[in-house]
Amino acid sequence: MITVDVDLGERSYPIFIGQGLLNKAELIAPYLGKGRVVIVSNDVVAPLYMDKAKQLFPGQDVLDIVLPDGEAHKDLDAVSHIYNVLLAGKYDRNTLLIALGGGVVGDITGFAAATYLRGIDFIQIPTTLLAQVDSSVGGKTGVNHPLGKNMIGAFYQPLCVLADTDVLSTLPRREVDAGLAEVLKYGLIYDAEFFDWLEANSKGIGESDSALLAQTIRTCCEIKAEIVAKDERESGVRALLNFGHTFGHAIETASGYGNWLHGETVAMGMVMAADLSHKLGWIDLAVAQRIRAVLEENFGMPVLPPADISVEQYLDLMLSDKKAESGKIRFVLLKAIGEGVVDGDIEPSLLESTLTAGDNLCK
Ligand code: NAD
Ligand code: GLY
Repeated sequence: MITVDVDLGERSYPIFIGQGLLNKAELIAPYLGKGRVVIVSNDVVAPLYMDKAKQLFPGQDVLDIVLPDGEAHKDLDAVSHIYNVLLAGKYDRNTLLIALGGGVVGDITGFAAATYLRGIDFIQIPTTLLAQVDSSVGGKTGVNHPLGKNMIGAFYQPLCVLADTDVLSTLPRREVDAGLAEVLKYGLIYDAEFFDWLEANSKGIGESDSALLAQTIRTCCEIKAEIVAKDERESGVRALLNFGHTFGHAIETASGYGNWLHGETVAMGMVMAADLSHKLGWIDLAVAQRIRAVLEENFGMPVLPPADISVEQYLDLMLSDKKAESGKIRFVLLKAIGEGVVDGDIEPSLLESTLTAGDNLCK
């Protein structure tokens, strides 16, 4: 097992990464208080892992809440359902919430924990690659609004993160690939050597070689922990973690939540951001082409955004992005592989040329 620490003073916590961690009740034991335990999951993950997760709390009567699966249900109704069950059962401030699932369950449960009785403890047990490398770490919690992705939420850190890599064996291939988009993001914005390593090992990673996946998860968690420790509430460097997301969130919202996977729209958004970085003269065409090729060819990701989203729709949705300031959309772009920057002064004609490039992105 590897432990990566997120250093946030008195809110610091460990991320445990390894095989068979759902059998290790001793990892969770130090975080149990005097209250009751409630595990929140969904109707895909619960049949697979709920019984096992309950064994992490021997001798306790653990309640489970099973939400409907999917991004389309990442909304205030889901949070309200959790409140209703907790209030009806007279769950007090000592209650410990456990998020057992991917990023959707993690974000919903974390937000319920942040707000129930003004805040109760919670633990993340991420079960997708995306959640193990990104969403379970760093304390962003929340839900979608029909007018925008992740628009309602709170920064609220878990007590610990337990990433059991064994659970990835049941994850559908398309979901693994969606997680790999967030993995490549870390290399592109922060760590050129990691990007080189991912490119060189794409075959083994694509075949879910367990040693390569464990190394991948560890590196991503180390990078994320470093960035979050520097800038927990995203007033600076943490914004880089949104690389590809300004375009990606617009595509996700315009297409209807759940039609494209979050990671897939991030892949499209990263190629759009690489294209715009090249049009601004910041990266060479060869670098932009390499980025598209690694995503599309080495990792088999969709990189072309749907053709039916108009420039006006993009601009409207991107102006609701949480990074937008004073009516200006702020983009995460690249000065080089491994060097992300945030910029809000983009020439409109260049932006429009990226939004309408279609198959000519990065060409
Ligand atoms: P998800 O939670 O919808 O999970 C993907 C699918 O896999 C679901 O159908 C789920 O039920 C299923 N699943 C989960 N674990 C499984 C397993 N072990 N075996 C079989 N099936 C399994 O999607 P996701 O990709 O994990 O997360 C995407 C969400 O995360 C988005 O809502 C995104 O906004 C959010 N996100 C949040 C942050 C953050 O910092 N909080 C960062 C990145 C993404
Ligand atoms: N996934 C973006 C962040 O945690 O900041």
